[in-house]
Amino acid sequence: MEYSEKVMDHFMNPRNVGKIEDADGVGEVGNAKCGDIMKMYIKVENNILVDVKFNTFGCASAIATSSMATELIKGKTVEEALELTNKAVAEALDGLPPVKMHCSVLAEEAIKAAIEDYMSKKA
Ligand code: FES
Repeated sequence: MEYSEKVMDHFMNPRNVGKIEDADGVGEVGNAKCGDIMKMYIKVENNILVDVKFNTFGCASAIATSSMATELIKGKTVEEALELTNKAVAEALDGLPPVKMHCSVLAEEAIKAAIEDYMSKKA
């Protein structure tokens, strides 16, 4: 199995790891295939994701995709963040081995869960 340089970079030096204490939305999701879990925190101001952090108990691909996903949605609107697909994240990483594609779903789902949490708190 071959990982791209970008995947290795984001795995070795993941961006935005951690927790936002006063997060506006928190999403936690699990991957049914492997049992890995991910928690995503978002801070929203004027409909913009001003901060995003994540924690994962997951594999290298899960870490790399979450790291890339947080970079891609930071500074974007809530609507733009909702449109981010795991495919787009994998492409931004120059691809993932096919057997690891399911890992990238975790990041997309965690972002959606965090935004749903934010929306329900706002409503
Ligand atoms: Fe579980 Fe990759 S093997 S997320």
